[in-house]
Amino acid sequence: MQIVAVNGSPHGEKGSTGRLLAEVLGGTREAGATVQLFELGRLEIKPCRGCDACHRTGQCPLADAFAQVSAALLAADAVVLASPNYMFHVTAQMKSLLDRLCGPFHLHAFEGKYAATVVTAGGPELAPVADYLTRFLRAIGCQTVGGVAAEAYRLTDAAAAGERFAEARALGRRLVEAARDKVSFPGQEAERSAAARRMRELISLRHSDWSYEYEYLRHHGQL
Ligand SMILES: Cc1cc2nc3c(=O)[nH]c(=O)nc-3n(C[C@H](O)[C@H](O)[C@H](O)COP(=O)(O)O)c2cc1C
Repeated sequence: MQIVAVNGSPHGEKGSTGRLLAEVLGGTREAGATVQLFELGRLEIKPCRGCDACHRTGQCPLADAFAQVSAALLAADAVVLASPNYMFHVTAQMKSLLDRLCGPFHLHAFEGKYAATVVTAGGPELAPVADYLTRFLRAIGCQTVGGVAAEAYRLTDAAAAGERFAEARALGRRLVEAARDKVSFPGQEAERSAAARRMRELISLRHSDWSYEYEYLRHHGQL
């Protein structure tokens, strides 16, 4: 059971997001999983240039850490995306990664994977970021097991932090159990399948531009 986690905070393991994420990953290890963690603050993932090469050729021409991170995510059984709230959204580092995943996103390539989210914020603005990450994860094909979120100040108070850390560990264990038992979340099906259908329709319409994706879907009997 391979878990791949990505922390979008520039503060790494020592930041609020990194500390909460560490508890989730501790829970996944307790449940028997192997973990690979990517700290985006230490990696270079350039912003997407919108060249469409991923749709035409299946390859991103930008040379940086993206190839390594995306290959690990594609090989994972379950993924964890973690980000603090930066101006009502994920960090620029996380957004660059998600934009660069546009090719796999079109192909709903995370189908069969399970996912969880970790979000922190200075104040109460946790839900917009958690909802955004969840929407992305379902639209790329994952079933989402849940998320943990905390205001940064709560993680400096021992009692409040303990409560959130316990919730985070339980989430990690649930993520591994869901992936191992192939649990299904029927409430997510309509959203996930609508996203896949939308992309199939768009790829059919754009078949002469997005030739790699059109051929991929045909080859896999999805058109
Ligand atoms: C550039 C920047 C923008 C931020 N924007 C918000 C925001 O819009 N809303 C909010 O509640 N917190 C905001 N924060 C606070 C962070 O979300 C919060 O401190 C978070 O826990 C930091 O996580 P980290 O320690 O893992 O980096 C912002 C912080 C920075 C540095």
